[in-house]
Amino acid sequence: MTEQDVTRKREVWSGRSVFIMAAIGSAVGLGNIWRFPYIAYENGGGAFLIPYLVALLTAGIPLLFLDYAIGHKFRGAPPLAFRRLRRGAEFIGWWQVLVCFVIGVYYAVIVAWALRYTFFSITEAWGDDPESFLIEDFLRQDGDATFGLSFVPGVAWTLLLVWVLVLGVLALGVQRGIGNANRFFVPLLVLLFAVLVVRSLTLEGATDGLNAFFSPNWSALTDTGVWISAYGQIFFSLSVAFGIMVTYSSYLKRKTNLTGSGLVVGFSNSSFEVLAGIGVFSALGFMAQAQGVEVGEVVAGGIGLAFIAFPTIISSMPGGAFFGVMFFGSLVFAGFTSMISIIQVTVSAFQDKTGMDKVPAVLAVGGVSALVSLLLFPTTTGLNTLDVVDRFANQFGIVGVAFVALVVVAWIYRRLPELRDHLNSVSSFKVGAGWMFFTGILTPILLAYMLFSEIRDRIRDGYGGLPDSLVLAFGWSVQAAVIVLAVVLSFIPWRKGIDLEYELDENRPLTPSVTDGTSAGGTQ
Ligand code: ALA
Repeated sequence: MTEQDVTRKREVWSGRSVFIMAAIGSAVGLGNIWRFPYIAYENGGGAFLIPYLVALLTAGIPLLFLDYAIGHKFRGAPPLAFRRLRRGAEFIGWWQVLVCFVIGVYYAVIVAWALRYTFFSITEAWGDDPESFLIEDFLRQDGDATFGLSFVPGVAWTLLLVWVLVLGVLALGVQRGIGNANRFFVPLLVLLFAVLVVRSLTLEGATDGLNAFFSPNWSALTDTGVWISAYGQIFFSLSVAFGIMVTYSSYLKRKTNLTGSGLVVGFSNSSFEVLAGIGVFSALGFMAQAQGVEVGEVVAGGIGLAFIAFPTIISSMPGGAFFGVMFFGSLVFAGFTSMISIIQVTVSAFQDKTGMDKVPAVLAVGGVSALVSLLLFPTTTGLNTLDVVDRFANQFGIVGVAFVALVVVAWIYRRLPELRDHLNSVSSFKVGAGWMFFTGILTPILLAYMLFSEIRDRIRDGYGGLPDSLVLAFGWSVQAAVIVLAVVLSFIPWRKGIDLEYELDENRPLTPSVTDGTSAGGTQ
């Protein structure tokens, strides 16, 4: 089978800028806005920027390059790309797909909450007590129950809407759907967020917030936990090592600047993250001053930051409704473009394996994801379930699959030199021994340590004071099932007619013409 036959059906981005926009849209997500500021503050403030930068340069960007190399050279979503890398590696691709599935089903829920809160902001619907509004009035959590299927309609219908929108974009395809959505939402997000940050900086007390955020606690640098947090943040935030970037780069044309794009994406994502830290802490400084307390007393992360602290800030500032719409609108846009990329991994993998057309594949895979999401989370026990699934998917799923992928690619099949050559054959920024060291040695060691300490801590301490049965069912069991299912899926036969040995040969001269009209041999 020729290269043209293989690439004929694969969709392509119309240009490199669309790919870069989509990759930034995927990277910039909830992780940037509500996770980074808190993690940085907790782990040494200004001093955290050092491990964070080291993690970006030694793991984030090198792994981004690796994902790009695999996706671009083997031209497939993770299962196909890893299958083409070597028969025995296919299960890694499925593991990544299933990690995306698990993340997707709860990520949508947070986007749905943010969507509702965008509207709640207009009337400041939470009144004087944002915490009880969130837990009791909006999410209707039942503090006593461990797990139940009693629905909360207000959350369920918003979640359904989010799924319909996400699947609608995916059904339109890579360029028309994902490409155009990102071309629209990413600049809009940057604009909204810039206005938000400027407004936050002009609030009274903003300087106190910034001082709290940036004051360096240098002793944090000797704490291994701080370094682990920096690496963990980079993986989730950059969307590396769980299949997204493999999938997105598989739609790039043959001649494209992979590492140049990676540098743009990596630095844009981190700039956005630091900007989010500045905006969030300026606002927290304002809140602390209004309440006459220290900034440290009002700091929160995750759900508490977005859905309790921010509503409090919004209620106490002049023009709060406008600020609220900007803040929650940013969360929706950032989350939506990340969500698209997460679900596209699962859809694309299914299409590769079965040969099914785009729309039926979106309906089948997206439909199942939406169903699971709608069944588990908009319930009176959904908050705790979400917390457990999130923790295990991040600290165990992403870290675990990243570790196994690196060991298999670098050590068992020894494919790093080829992937390095592939990157260098098409890119402006060349990689060499440093890249091989970071991806083949340093990062696997760090990941092994992260995995080991997480497993030890969870076995010893459980998670977040939640019932063991919940942690067992939605933490350990889900992650174990993901691994077993990944192996099973790797044994299911591929559709007929697919070339499982194909790989893009960078030494072959570019063909002057193509037969499929997608200009697979074109330049970007
Ligand atoms: N990279 C995405 C985020 O930060 C998944 O939320």
